[in-house]
Amino acid sequence: MPRQFFVGGNFKMNGSLESISKIVTTLNEGNITAPTEVVIAPPSLYLLSVKDKIRKEIAVSAQNSYIIASGAFTGEISPHQLKDAGIPWVIIGHSERRTLFGDTDKLVAQKTKTALDAGLSVILCIGETLEERESNKTIAVVEKQLAAVKAEISDWKNVVIAYEPVWAIGTGKVATSAQAQEVHHALRGWLSKEIGQDVAQSTRIIYGGSVSAKNSKELGEHLSHVFQLVRMIAAQPDVDGFLVGGASLKPEFIEIINAGS
Ligand code: G3H
Repeated sequence: MPRQFFVGGNFKMNGSLESISKIVTTLNEGNITAPTEVVIAPPSLYLLSVKDKIRKEIAVSAQNSYIIASGAFTGEISPHQLKDAGIPWVIIGHSERRTLFGDTDKLVAQKTKTALDAGLSVILCIGETLEERESNKTIAVVEKQLAAVKAEISDWKNVVIAYEPVWAIGTGKVATSAQAQEVHHALRGWLSKEIGQDVAQSTRIIYGGSVSAKNSKELGEHLSHVFQLVRMIAAQPDVDGFLVGGASLKPEFIEIINAGS
């Protein structure tokens, strides 16, 4: 069964009541023509108002959650609270969490487990730095990040993997379709070997890093190209969507959502 194209919009720590309300209106009025699963992640302060106002085809996600259900953890949100509030998704392990807030591979894995156990779906972010890429460590780094998660969870059905090369995030330097495909293919191979063929075939692996309407078509065409190959060789494509930062705050996000059609 083909994997449904998935586009996430990570607003990061951007927006205001007014600007986020405008984004919601744009999304509600936008012409979504592709059968894409869409999830947007506003800052936690705006989660509930966005959930109440966004069209029902678009789900809402938190950008982070902690590893404990409740207690004296000032400033944190638990996945159980997200579930209670009707927020079905959470982004875990974004590179900004890893580099700025000390989220280690182990903590990311624990957060993933706790979120899944609480009944949330997880957008699990992984990716290498420029230094790691230039030292040919890309595959080893992303596999190590996934291996830490494998040690904590056994059920991957509510996980979407977001491959986000750190050097491509917010820099305007989008990976080429060949670079994305190479890593996605390796990740699917890892899933197949380490978890199982079914999980490898059903798990969405999405790309993030400077995706905009300008270049998403290029990656999307690559996806279509892979789809053609898939029909010929009875395999699946390896790029299943995008995790979008800056461009998710703009009207062009609609074009990116439609890039998978
Ligand atoms: O979560 C999204 C990624 O960090 C990509 O951000 O599209 O602004 O580069 P960006």
